[in-house]
Amino acid sequence: MTDQYAVIGNPISHSQSPLIHSEFAKQTGQNLAYDRLYAPLDGFDRVANDFVGQGGKGLNITLPFKGDAFRLANQLTFRASVSEAVNTLTFKDGVVYGDNTDGVGLVRDIVENLDMPIAGKRVLVLGAGGAVRGVLLPLLEEKPLRLTVANRTVEKAQALAAQFAPYGTVDGVGYPELAGEQFDIIINGTSTSLHDELPPIPHGVFAPDALAYDMVYSAGLTPFLKRGQQEKAAVLADGLGMLVEQAAESFFIWRGVKPETRRVMGILREVLS
Ligand code: ATR
Repeated sequence: MTDQYAVIGNPISHSQSPLIHSEFAKQTGQNLAYDRLYAPLDGFDRVANDFVGQGGKGLNITLPFKGDAFRLANQLTFRASVSEAVNTLTFKDGVVYGDNTDGVGLVRDIVENLDMPIAGKRVLVLGAGGAVRGVLLPLLEEKPLRLTVANRTVEKAQALAAQFAPYGTVDGVGYPELAGEQFDIIINGTSTSLHDELPPIPHGVFAPDALAYDMVYSAGLTPFLKRGQQEKAAVLADGLGMLVEQAAESFFIWRGVKPETRRVMGILREVLS
């Protein structure tokens, strides 16, 4: 029997996860099928439970269901419980295991693929929604010099900083407070790039040699990456590498084998161009 996996979301038709996982399966000789699963906004539990009932082995979870998946899981990894969001569910012997591979995907893309250590760096994360909550712990575990979370609604940034303070040096601010500050790694975790908008970052925050990283992936430069380019950031990267790396970590959780990611990143880049 071929093991069944899927990515569940709303919308879901744009998801590249089936392509990524089928490439991983080919590469590692694993016998599995990976589909897209649409769920109505109030129907996550029903669709996920139907999938389990039909023998499904695991799900990736994308917007807007990472909180629902967190609540559905009966066993959570530490990183999933801290982030209060789950992007990987595994169904085994009646237990629903929840994990979050987004943060490790982001960190691997920055540290290994882009060859930019996070340790000792000044890191700025823009946004304080679900996307950011999922990546803060793995970022802090890399021991940056400091991590600043900036958000339009400053209270949300401050609340996140307070919640993650046990795991490293982190502060929460509004955008105006960034004026006069410089950062080595600036990560856009807001939803602005999906709407062709730019978060209100003051000029001058990109240090020389800075990395500008947008968690959204796109064929051309996002408005945030264009700003990074204008401000002479040394490296511009979108979230395609993070997407492939988080998928690789999910694949490893499910199948116990680590797929090679570079070639799949190349294939995906071609598909998206
Ligand atoms: P996600 O789960 O993708 O993070 P979200 O929880 O809706 O989605 O969060 C979206 C993030 O993008 C928030 O940090 C939001 O800022 P607010 O908390 O102030 O709403 C941020 N965001 C969205 N549009 C923005 C804009 N035009 N400028 C700055 N930040 C923006």
